[in-house]
Amino acid sequence: MQLWKRLYGVVWLAFFSCVIIPRWTGAKAGLWVHVVLGLAMLIMTLGNAKSLHALSVPSRLKRISKVTIGFAVLQVICGLGFGVVKHYLPDLPAAMQALRIAHLVCALAILAQASSLATAYDMWEEKEF
Ligand code: HEM
Repeated sequence: MQLWKRLYGVVWLAFFSCVIIPRWTGAKAGLWVHVVLGLAMLIMTLGNAKSLHALSVPSRLKRISKVTIGFAVLQVICGLGFGVVKHYLPDLPAAMQALRIAHLVCALAILAQASSLATAYDMWEEKEF
């Protein structure tokens, strides 16, 4: 798949990870679809950063792709922590709330980073500047 499509793909995976949340789609199937989307997004960000690294794109784009990987890794860690505390340690409400906020903030950061990266790369590739 072409790189620009994979970059926009990350944006859509992040978007659907925000929409397909267990609270709305059910704790069983919904949770697993959510986790699979999150892991697919992480794998895609890794592949995209590798592809960008090999190109002569502006280094700003390479930096944004690395930051996106960082947020994607953090998101998996927060999501796993959130799930474990919510389901197995319900007597730790402060920890659950902190992890929920971190997971939510990270989701917004990923959407912002992935969107700007996809658009900037697309413009660079099409020489739209
Ligand atoms: C493998 C990665 C991920 C894991 C393990 C994970 C895990 C979880 C869990 C356990 C919940 C709460 C489930 C519940 O309410 O019972 C949750 C909620 C949520 N997740 Fe994830 N998640 C992952 C990736 C993502 C990604 C990539 C995004 C968006 C970019 C995302 C956005 C959200 C949002 C917006 C919520 C709702 C938060 C709330 O209830 O306030 N997650 N996630």
